[in-house]
Amino acid sequence: MLITNIKALVGIHPKEKLFLRGSELKQLPILENAWLLLEDGLIKDFGSMSEMPSQISNLNSQISVEGRFVFPSWCDSHTHIVFAAPREEEFALKIAGKTYEEIAAAGGGILNSANKLQKATEDELFESASIRLKDMIKQGTGAVEIKSGYGLTVESELKMLRVIKRLKQAFPIPIKASLLAAHAYPTEYKNNHQAYIALIINELLPKVSAENLADYIDVFCEKGFFSTEETAQILTAAANYGLKPKIHANQLSSSGAVELGVKHDAVSVDHLEETDAHALQALSNSNTIATLLPSCSFYINIPFANAKGLINNNAIIALASDYNPGSTPSGNMNFVVSLGCIKLKMTAEQAVNAATLNGAAAMELNDEVGSITIGKKANLFITRPMTSLAYLPYSFGQSQIETVILNGEIYNG
Ligand code: NIG
Ligand code: FE
Repeated sequence: MLITNIKALVGIHPKEKLFLRGSELKQLPILENAWLLLEDGLIKDFGSMSEMPSQISNLNSQISVEGRFVFPSWCDSHTHIVFAAPREEEFALKIAGKTYEEIAAAGGGILNSANKLQKATEDELFESASIRLKDMIKQGTGAVEIKSGYGLTVESELKMLRVIKRLKQAFPIPIKASLLAAHAYPTEYKNNHQAYIALIINELLPKVSAENLADYIDVFCEKGFFSTEETAQILTAAANYGLKPKIHANQLSSSGAVELGVKHDAVSVDHLEETDAHALQALSNSNTIATLLPSCSFYINIPFANAKGLINNNAIIALASDYNPGSTPSGNMNFVVSLGCIKLKMTAEQAVNAATLNGAAAMELNDEVGSITIGKKANLFITRPMTSLAYLPYSFGQSQIETVILNGEIYNG
């Protein structure tokens, strides 16, 4: 397929550029008045309209997109989209002023989702997650990470991961799976943390590994959830099965989770709403990516992460949705990019890079997706006619996406 008369082709990074650190994040190469050729599901070539080779201008399959921008698909590196039921009953409590922690203590929260998920069938979970994923794709997402963590028993965690495996097979986008059995302590282990950790290490990890169900290990490292010592125990055991960490860190408090993640060579440490000086220092010049989730801050009224401090400290930052039924009931990456600008004070260029190439890096998919680069997967979206790049984050809450292309073909899912 040939796309012609593109007003701006956005995110043209050389293939050697696998992530953007610190001040590099503002570099978003754009080609105006461009053509783009897709072949065999991949980006084959691109250039200026004024220099389009005559042999390709005769191609049968062509679309002309005057006034429109072409972006690489969003790469959403942190989601929890397999869940049995939404939790809008918590919405009223939240509006009445209850905090995320108070709602969890009152029987809401992760344990509430786990109760519901344990009763759901694999098919039901697959169907509802598929609907969410289709919505996300229509909103421009072209690669995604999905976590377990609402099972909290060996069987139910396996059930969630098997659903993610089915999603991998059924959807035309790259999907990574993270084992998040250490999301909360089930009630029966409330006073016996070591027994639950032993269950994860001795029973769950071997089964997950035998069925090849996970790419990463995740832990909710937080006061009242998993301590840094408990987190370290789980990360060490998972490393024996080749699972690298992507951890929930510094969401509600500065617990040392970021430093621990960096020490364990985590692919990413995610949340960081409490970005203290230790976290900044640990991430400075580190290869561990700081994944920021501003829709979560927005929804549960917690601080926004210190994106500027991280950028100034030469960290690598990504933006992701955190789509889940409790803290972030939305997987709209366009809104995440808007919040990146409006609340994290990132420029439009920085936010787009953080949601594309750096998001891909946070899933180790950066040689495959995340930029307009010859040889990468042709996963991209075409906007409506737009006046400038900034119009996309500026027009928050509205999708500017007109056409989604996955593997070189228009997605009509
Ligand atoms: O990333 N913080 C932990 N996990 C999710 C929320 C889970 C839930 O409330 O169901 C998060 O925000
Ligand atoms: Fe999360």
